[in-house]
Amino acid sequence: MEEVKTIGVVGAGQMGSGIAQLAAVNGFQVWLLDADPKALTMATNSISNSLQRLASKGQLSQAVIGDALKRLHCTSNLKDFGTADFVVEAIAESEVVKKNLFVELDKITKASAILASNTSSISITRLASVTNRPHQVIGMHFMNPPPIMKLVEIIRGAATSDETYNATKSLAERFGKTVVCSKDYSGFIVNRILMPMINEAFFTLYTGVATKEDIDAGMKLGTNQPMGPLELADFIGLDVCLSILRVLHAGLGDAKYAPCPLLVQYVDAGRCGRKSGVGVYDYR
Ligand code: CAA
Repeated sequence: MEEVKTIGVVGAGQMGSGIAQLAAVNGFQVWLLDADPKALTMATNSISNSLQRLASKGQLSQAVIGDALKRLHCTSNLKDFGTADFVVEAIAESEVVKKNLFVELDKITKASAILASNTSSISITRLASVTNRPHQVIGMHFMNPPPIMKLVEIIRGAATSDETYNATKSLAERFGKTVVCSKDYSGFIVNRILMPMINEAFFTLYTGVATKEDIDAGMKLGTNQPMGPLELADFIGLDVCLSILRVLHAGLGDAKYAPCPLLVQYVDAGRCGRKSGVGVYDYR
């Protein structure tokens, strides 16, 4: 496997831009791709802001930031990924959309390139199956916000090779992250455990056991978490939480993963959390 020098990141949303930032700061050439030029402009701004926040705490110098920004290239043309040694996709959580992307990436990238998905719950084995290199396909799941959170969850598909796993692990470590490894079953490790907690918080609210503020304060102060589960759900996106719960429910076949009707109703009403201005809480 070739040494990783150039990284392609597909999708310039919160996760994709955070991953591109990590790659650029840690010395890699980065292509950040999004079909929407506005998303690329927003990503560049959010990366600059995040880097300045880190600089204001003395964690990065202006020289490092300047060099990182020079290594970051934005594009809307997948052909630019021809030089990439490693690709991470962070596009919409739709299996069909991701499979279409993997077909294209398989055609365009070098035969030696590793294709990673930042999916939070979709099967890596199924994504790999649409490529001619399933042994070089892997899950590389960053936590939100990627520049701050210390974990990367690596998921081995049924065909993922040891070489691909080792290269992905050492890349995550170059980004300063600690790695955990999961087999390819719905929700992997983090979401399999986190989403039932968030779902239970919704049931606690839905059945009138407590107010949203008390549920969050109870878990935040009572179990030393930075955010309560409802606040965290708004941060992740209620639509994202719902879709992960549905993947858990379908994939593991246990009724305990069935999403709370209140969560479903919020998403139906367009209350998707912070990004939509209202979720469990009102941010407007
Ligand atoms: N870039 C740079 N710095 C950032 C940042 C970013 N994108 N986001 C936050 N920070 C920094 C801030 O500068 C601040 O630093 P100091 O404490 O040193 O001053 C620190 O992080 C805290 O930020 P804030 O004061 O703005 O806000 P906060 O104290 O509420 O922290 C938080 C924000 C880091 C997000 C914190 O609330 C937290 O850790 N929440 C839990 C996040 C979490 O659980 N994420 C995982 C979700 S699950 C997931 O991602 C998987 C999935 O598939 C759904």
